[in-house]
Amino acid sequence: MREFKPRKLFKPRDFISPQIMSCQYLEIGAGKGMHAMQFAQANPQKHLIAVERTRNKFEVFAERATALELENLTPVHADAIPYVVHAFPPNSLNGVFLLYPNPEPKSTAQRWLNMPFFEFLLSRMKDGAEVVLASNIESYIDEAEQQTKELWQLPVERKIIPRNSSRTHFEVKYLERGELCQELVMTKPRGYQTRFDD
Ligand SMILES: C[S@@+](CC[C@H](N)C(=O)[O-])C[C@H]1O[C@@H](n2cnc3c(N)ncnc32)[C@H](O)[C@@H]1O
Repeated sequence: MREFKPRKLFKPRDFISPQIMSCQYLEIGAGKGMHAMQFAQANPQKHLIAVERTRNKFEVFAERATALELENLTPVHADAIPYVVHAFPPNSLNGVFLLYPNPEPKSTAQRWLNMPFFEFLLSRMKDGAEVVLASNIESYIDEAEQQTKELWQLPVERKIIPRNSSRTHFEVKYLERGELCQELVMTKPRGYQTRFDD
């Protein structure tokens, strides 16, 4: 796998450095923000930074989030890769959500677990922090589970998402169609090292 080169990435347009909180979570590809808003409401002691790249989805999310006046939720319109590079110091995230990422069927190297960026993301997580990855595509979960174990060498739990779960718009849609949705919960073990730790 080629090396990730964070220094080559410019700050996203209109970048604002987030205030670093003691209990901070990141969601990548938040869509219209359904999970982000539910999470922030249910966890007032946790701060969630939820990043969405597509403008029209982000605008719906931002409008809804503003109406809810949730102080512990920061919606961000950006590509998560340069955003993460510029926003977070090492060992600063308590958890990461990747819920129903685009499956990238024509370019599987663009899947999160196949990208060199994933090592950088791990460096930004605290020891014991979890990445939650959900998908309705069994082969995607199979591949991600294998990468988690073999390439990233992380402990991982694989779960079936209950039929009545409704965390995101895509989750609701897939479960209504009767599709099997699964998630991986990967943990960054204590003492885990990356090339981006300082
Ligand atoms: C299939 S949708 C799922 C949206 C939401 N998580 C859900 O489950 O309803 C994937 C989302 O990830 C966003 N996305 C993909 N790559 C991204 C990136 N590099 N940075 C931020 N958002 C990204 C897309 O714009 C899209 O809205």
